Amino acid sequence: MIGLFDRLARPLLGLLDAEDAHRLAVRGLRLVPRGPAPLDDARLSVRVFGLNFPNPVGMAAGFDKHGEAPDALLRLGFGFVEVGTVTPRPQPGNPRPRLFRLPADEGVINRLGFNSEGARAVLARLAARAGAGGLVGVNVGANKNSQDRIADYVSLIETFAPVASYFTLNISSPNTPGLRDLQQGRLFDELLARVVDARARASRQAGLTPLLIKIAPDLTLSELDDVVGAARRRRVDGMIVGNTTVTRPPNLADAKTARESGGLSGRPLFALSTRMLAETYVRAEGAFPLVGTGGIDSGRTALAKIRAGASLVQLYSSLVFRGLGLVGEIKAELVQALAAGRHAGLPELVGVDAATMTAESWPR
Ligand SMILES: Cc1cc2nc3c(=O)[nH]c(=O)nc-3n(C[C@H](O)[C@H](O)[C@H](O)COP(=O)(O)O)c2cc1C
Repeated sequence: MIGLFDRLARPLLGLLDAEDAHRLAVRGLRLVPRGPAPLDDARLSVRVFGLNFPNPVGMAAGFDKHGEAPDALLRLGFGFVEVGTVTPRPQPGNPRPRLFRLPADEGVINRLGFNSEGARAVLARLAARAGAGGLVGVNVGANKNSQDRIADYVSLIETFAPVASYFTLNISSPNTPGLRDLQQGRLFDELLARVVDARARASRQAGLTPLLIKIAPDLTLSELDDVVGAARRRRVDGMIVGNTTVTRPPNLADAKTARESGGLSGRPLFALSTRMLAETYVRAEGAFPLVGTGGIDSGRTALAKIRAGASLVQLYSSLVFRGLGLVGEIKAELVQALAAGRHAGLPELVGVDAATMTAESWPR
């Protein structure tokens, strides 16, 4: 099924406008046959945030923003799916075009700006699948015109606690003006305090839902010190490193498209995001696990994230260029790497390269 989809549909999707192709791909997932998700090699299972992941390869936020296809994605072999970003009220996002491919670089630039069907619509879909099993996280964000952005996160925690396997606070999208300020100092601490409180209140019905923070790869190292310090003090459960970058590495082949404003993802993000992951790992000192995201397009790059400090990984952009078969390829390569090194499981490899990586010169 995956092979057929990749061979027939992908070349056609590549001819369409990037956003139309994405809509069609999400709709096309309705065709994925029902039935249980494939069983993974037991060596790929990981227990993180108190949850049992059958494999560490997740669908990153932004692909299924409205919760339309989490079960199809799980059946295609993802170990977990992150739905969202969801905002409290529906909003259209930025004007089109707002999504661009950089084929020669295998990169993507987006400035979608949190187009969201809103909490009510997404909650209805997730409630309808309650009990279906599988790990589905909910990534939450503030409305663009919100008067109290922190209150938006609080309300989303309250709304989604009964249906979310975990929460991600997205405070790192570059496409909502001012959103990234929530990563700074007092504001970040106030956000954490109010959200942790909301989660405790919601836990009376739903149990304590793990809370992750998704950060930008563009933080300075001193900003990262503060973010990790506050997250440790407030006892968050994990961090995702990270979101798209507003920087543009030199020598991008698709130089004209690279000038579009927005967040860059995919292969050109790999070096920066992996370095930031290692920097986060050495600062977290094991206080919480990390999710590595940014430019994963093979088993080799997934393994590099794990060795830099990731307990789990997520991907999105490479699927545009490599197709859905990539998920199975990555899992098979991870099993091979474990067998070759005689490792019982992936936790043995988490962070083994972090110290050496952080001593290298800064990637360009
Ligand atoms: C088209 C597009 C939309 C995205 N939307 C979101 C989003 O709504 N929320 C979020 O936290 N991250 C979003 N992301 C960021 C991804 O989740 C991921 O962090 C980033 O793309 C790096 O991974 P990748 O290189 O594998 O794509 C989006 C990325 C892309 C390409």
